[in-house]
Amino acid sequence: MLYVISLLLFLSHALANPFSGQVTARDANQFRTWVTAEAMASEFVSRLNLTEKSAMITGKLSLGVGGCIGNLLPIDRVGYSGLCMQDGPNGVGLADLTSVFPSGVTMGASWDKKLIYQRGVAIGKEFRSKGIHVALGPSAGPLGRHGLGGRNWEGFSIDPYLSGIAIAASIEGIQTQGVQTCAKHIVGNEQETQRSFTISQNGTRIEAISSNIDDRTMHELYMWPFANAIKAGVVSAMCSYNRLNQTYTCESSAVLKNLLREELGFQGYIMSDWFATHSGAKSINAGLDLNMPGAYNAETIATGESYWGGNITTMVQAGSVSEERIDEMVRRIMTPYFYFGQDRESYPTVDPSLAYSFAAWSNVLDYLPTPIPKSRDVRGNHHQLIRKIGAEASVLLKNVNSTLPLKAPLNIGVFGNDAASSSDGLTFIKHFEIGTLDIGAGAGTVRHTYLVSPLEAIQARAKKFGGRVQYILHNAITAAGDFSSLFPIPDVCLVFLNTFAAENMDRQTYEADWNSTLVVENVASMCPNTIVVTHSAGINSMPWANNVNVTAIIAAHLPGQESGNSIVDVLWGDVNPSGRLPYSIAKNPKDYDIPIVNLTESQVTSPTAWQDDFVEGQMIDYRKLDSAGIEPLFEFGFGLSYTTFGMKSNLKVKQLNSHLTSKPDPSHEVQPGGNPDLWEPILRVTTTVTNTGSKEGATVPQLYVSMPQGSTPEGTPLQVLRGFEKVFLKPGKSQDVTFELLRRDVSYWDTSFQSWVIPKGRFSLGAGFSSRDIVAKADLELNLVDG
Ligand SMILES: *[C@@H]1O[C@H](CO)[C@@H](O)[C@H](O)[C@H]1NC(C)=O
Ligand SMILES: *[C@@H]1O[C@H](CO)[C@@H](O)[C@H](O)[C@H]1NC(C)=O
Ligand SMILES: *[C@@H]1O[C@H](CO)[C@@H](O)[C@H](O)[C@H]1NC(C)=O
Ligand SMILES: *[C@@H]1O[C@H](CO)[C@@H](O)[C@H](O)[C@H]1NC(C)=O
Ligand SMILES: *[C@@H]1O[C@H](CO)[C@@H](O)[C@H](O)[C@H]1NC(C)=O
Ligand SMILES: *[C@@H]1O[C@H](CO)[C@@H](O)[C@H](O)[C@H]1NC(C)=O
Ligand SMILES: *[C@@H]1O[C@H](CO)[C@@H](O)[C@H](O)[C@H]1NC(C)=O
Ligand SMILES: *[C@@H]1O[C@H](CO)[C@@H](O)[C@H](O)[C@H]1NC(C)=O
Repeated sequence: MLYVISLLLFLSHALANPFSGQVTARDANQFRTWVTAEAMASEFVSRLNLTEKSAMITGKLSLGVGGCIGNLLPIDRVGYSGLCMQDGPNGVGLADLTSVFPSGVTMGASWDKKLIYQRGVAIGKEFRSKGIHVALGPSAGPLGRHGLGGRNWEGFSIDPYLSGIAIAASIEGIQTQGVQTCAKHIVGNEQETQRSFTISQNGTRIEAISSNIDDRTMHELYMWPFANAIKAGVVSAMCSYNRLNQTYTCESSAVLKNLLREELGFQGYIMSDWFATHSGAKSINAGLDLNMPGAYNAETIATGESYWGGNITTMVQAGSVSEERIDEMVRRIMTPYFYFGQDRESYPTVDPSLAYSFAAWSNVLDYLPTPIPKSRDVRGNHHQLIRKIGAEASVLLKNVNSTLPLKAPLNIGVFGNDAASSSDGLTFIKHFEIGTLDIGAGAGTVRHTYLVSPLEAIQARAKKFGGRVQYILHNAITAAGDFSSLFPIPDVCLVFLNTFAAENMDRQTYEADWNSTLVVENVASMCPNTIVVTHSAGINSMPWANNVNVTAIIAAHLPGQESGNSIVDVLWGDVNPSGRLPYSIAKNPKDYDIPIVNLTESQVTSPTAWQDDFVEGQMIDYRKLDSAGIEPLFEFGFGLSYTTFGMKSNLKVKQLNSHLTSKPDPSHEVQPGGNPDLWEPILRVTTTVTNTGSKEGATVPQLYVSMPQGSTPEGTPLQVLRGFEKVFLKPGKSQDVTFELLRRDVSYWDTSFQSWVIPKGRFSLGAGFSSRDIVAKADLELNLVDG
């Protein structure tokens, strides 16, 4: 009876606010409906006492307990076996016998919705097989405001549209496996330096950096991809370490309530980044649902002391939080669990080896009981997909006289520390010198079971045609110009460079690491056919790009464990690369660099000294270069192919809604993703692309929108990406490409109306092959009934 009543009670609520997620179940029988799941969660809550509820919303992290990086402990009394949460965005972190997938930045560079989805499915399978309930990813924050931000590589692109499509496809892919995802980090965590508070020498608490972001920029840049995530059905979200407008995001009702809940209709639960909860009732009442991993900080993990936990009873008794709010928090946490059928017998149990691989990572393996359980191998055949993505997502930036693909047989030279197998182990924790880089460090990293280095893959390839491979791996030798070991001079010199990045640490320079400029210049000085490959966690300057002897450049980003095989597939032309830059490469980094705020040296004494005013508004990356009229070295969206493509010079444009209002109808109830009108298709734009070359391959037609300048406020970018497709074509073949523009795509955020508004006046649409290679154009005025 109770069950029926609670079902009825929540029916209207559930119907009004279902998760919109177009999740297709791996096995439809395992998923429930949201209505059923919410009713089950409510019924579950009704069986708990306040102590148990408090434990449900306060995570646990201690050796051997639960075994994951974050755990909600079981409640035996009601037959609930707990929840396991594990990093991260690029595969199962801290575990053993898992795959190292291409990182977010590589997926951004793929511009391939299908591959991003497929990677999501594969990652989801690995999390599920390990018995993990919540995958802590994907990431769309940081977006990449600072080119040197230490975590940019975990996300997809500096562009919110590309990032939004990518995070949505990732969520949809992972959640097909019945694994919960967590959109992170919300919001404004654009730099790692002082991301959390510190204690100064005299004991004063110096607060975390405050990202001060104006309303319009918040909507059009930093929250944009998270709207896609919510629309795609993400079931949890993570608030970030930093402060936003002076308030920690995890206790900011402006972020958690106004933006996420009210405006974007988010129905899942919001958890804190690890140790990012800094208050009790304040954070609970601001909208934080789950304090992870519960303790104040790393030092109190053992005691479990927490702002929440046992203190919640006192708060409820004192009336500073209501028990209904606590119930709501537990219900939100448990609804996705029941929706995905994670309570069913068919959901795998947590792999007991997780606790051990985590303990090994933390150097405390000795504290756990022996014998060490055997790890569950969850890798399947994912190496195939990883190799394919690594190759296809490579961005070919220069290819003079078709030096690539290589034609065997050849006398090959390999240079650079990045060509080598790692000499410091297979788990990337610190910046290491010798060894190829296929993933960064921190929460986004994954333990390798193997890593194919470029050198070993090139040697294997050369063996097939009896080729010679000479190599010099220490950059110090190459930087010193010592080529005395070489004879004869190679026909082609492959130089591998890398750029490391890690959580909790920003990068220092745009130049690739380890004396890279000298390395390239010295190789090029003796080798007129020098090919440079970068494995990089983000934007690099390329001061050697125009060196006449540098005949080809490939930005291969962080391709994952098959790295060497992927690049060999590209170098020898088994795969025609079709990656495109998910950011711009400036001629001079100063052209767009926004420096990391760094007061470390000045040892500030004011608790609120760390301030970061986002005064540039939307003018980051190509938006900045466009508005300042600065020509980049390689522009956003750019990438070459082994074949060539053409596009018809005219665009067909059709307005799909003849009764178009300038604003979404405010009477429409907010759904996950916001007012549903925002997702309504407004324009259909069609062009035709042709493979005009002699090889098969894929290209990425892109659509850019320029809003009418007269009727939009100052600070409107000259053009913004609003469509892209990856199109594979055989030589001589053509295909129509259609872009559907949604209301949000042709609107700006009007701060006085507090609404998205379609401006009056002439829009310009431009389709082409990069942000600076617009081939087809159309101007039009949208037919607005209230215009
Ligand atoms: C709640 O239930 C637990 C058993 O799960 C019990 O240990 C605890 O004392 C109960 N708390 C209250 C306040 O009844
Ligand atoms: C942050 O402050 C700016 C400037 O006052 C304001 O425009 C913006 O809406 C604020 N953002 C939030 C989330 O409160
Ligand atoms: C409750 O919070 C106080 C400080 O806010 C802390 O000292 C105490 O350890 C907390 N209690 C529990 C049970 O975590
Ligand atoms: C490319 O080809 C052109 C024309 O054949 C030739 O002049 C030029 O030297 C070549 N460049 C390189 C780097 O081989
Ligand atoms: C770079 O190479 C030069 C020339 O050999 C050397 O003097 C310098 O110390 C090197 N720098 C680094 C960071 O290795
Ligand atoms: C290019 O290579 C040629 C031949 O090895 C060499 O003479 C020349 O100095 C090189 N140029 C540069 C800029 O390194
Ligand atoms: C910030 O400043 C400190 C102290 O000078 C320095 O050690 C650190 O590398 C700087 N961080 C960045 C990202 O440059
Ligand atoms: C630490 O130093 C700052 C600045 O000198 C001062 O304002 C603050 O009161 C000091 N705090 C303590 C705990 O002494």
